[in-house]
Formats: sequence, C-alpha cells, structure tokens
Amino acid sequence: MAPPPTLSMSSNNVLDKMSPPRQQQSRLEKGRKQLPAGIALPCSEQILRKLSVSSSEDERQTGFEMLQEGIRTILGPSSGIDSDDVNVEDLMDIMTRYHSIESEWKDFALEEPTRGYTRNGVDNINNKANLLLLVWNPGKGSCIHDHADAHCIMKILKGNLVETLYEWPEEGVEGPMKVIKESVRSEQQVAYMSDKIGLHRIKNPSETEVAVSLHLYTPPWAAEYGCSIFDENTSKSSKVNMSNLYSWRGELQEKAGGDSC
Ligand SMILES: [Fe+2]
Repeated sequence: MAPPPTLSMSSNNVLDKMSPPRQQQSRLEKGRKQLPAGIALPCSEQILRKLSVSSSEDERQTGFEMLQEGIRTILGPSSGIDSDDVNVEDLMDIMTRYHSIESEWKDFALEEPTRGYTRNGVDNINNKANLLLLVWNPGKGSCIHDHADAHCIMKILKGNLVETLYEWPEEGVEGPMKVIKESVRSEQQVAYMSDKIGLHRIKNPSETEVAVSLHLYTPPWAAEYGCSIFDENTSKSSKVNMSNLYSWRGELQEKAGGDSC
C-alpha cells in the first residue's frame, strides 16, 4: 500500500478543520493501535489526507464540504447498495472527525416553529445514501420508528438530543413498548442505529433551544419505501412515507414535508 502523501502546512490546516476535540479522539487512537504494521491510518483518515492534498489549493472548502466529499469517497462510485457492503466504522470515523461549525451548515438548517422538527436534505450520494439535517424544536421529538433495514449514523451538530431505545414488540402482542435504555447524545457526538439494535425515538430535551443533527441513511430505504412507526402504549405499527423533505439544499420544498416521523 502506498504511504499517505506528505502534507503541506495548508493541508494540515484543512485536516484540523475535520479533527474532533481531544476528548473525542480516544476511540480513534485506540483503533489505530489495533491496525497491523504498514497500515498506520484508518481508511477515513487516508481519504481525508488525500482530500486535504487535493483541496489544499482551495482554502474555501469547509470542513462540512470535506465531510460530504469523504462520505462519497468511502461509499465509492460502484460498490453495491446492499447494507452489508457499507463499512460503518469508516463512516462513523469520518463523521466523528468533523467538528461542527454552525456557519458551515446553517444554510441547510431551515427551522419551522409550528412543526416538531424539519427534515432538510443536504445530499443524495449516488442513490446509496441520504444526508439529512434535522432541526428539532425545543421539547419536540420523533415517533418511535424503525430504519427500514438500513444503517443510520447521527452526529449532533448543535445542542443535545435524548435517544430512547426500545425492544422490537412481539408480533401479535399488544401492550406498552419496552424501553431498553435512554442516552443523551451531546454536541459533536456520533451515534449508530439500525433495526438490529432495536427501535428508537429522538427528542430535544431543551425547553428553549433548537437542536440540530446530521443523519446519514444508507441505503436510503426509508426515503424510497417509508418506515414503520410504533404506538408507545399498544406497540401497534403503521407505515409512514418519509420521502417528503422540508427543504432540499437550502430551498423550501413545494410540499414541504416534515415530521411525519
Ligand atoms: Fe432514527
């Protein structure tokens, strides 16, 4: 394997834009030590360094743009769209490395106080993944939902979100949903979710502040086929359409879909 390219000072600066704060680097450092000799860098870091070199002449590229480009590179132009073909570790790694700066993504973050939250489209990556930016109004949250047999990686860009994890209900059994655990996801943190883990609900616990999260769904099954939502008291499920977005790349959509859950 070819060694990583030598970085100029300016490209190091670009890498710095993507680097998480020191306290978030422990998992990455641990992962590096487990790599065999000769493979000193995780895939996402090698990709970032290549991106840094290619973008070193264009200092206008933001960390958020580099993140999108890195996700595109990891997903690749020709690999299959089956869930098992996606390297979740690399995607989580690159999302962890992005340090959220509001000015970089605020144009995508359209708010609407009359809704629980808004779903704003940022990117569709080769029809393999959707990148959405969700703006959560104070005290509001989603329904309990599944993820249509896809991966979901969520990074908190602003504020905190509470994730409540539920067991899948037994088929044909009516009763309250069973909570597995509740986790607070804080600003800059990255979390992974899939149907293999269970079902979940996301809520903004703040009474006054909006929270913003970035969601990578791959493959984009929920947008194509919808997902299921579950009644907290009865566990009954129903199908919902998730194809309508509130905005697309900063432009309000005609149908302006939002929080159908
Ligand atoms: Fe979710």
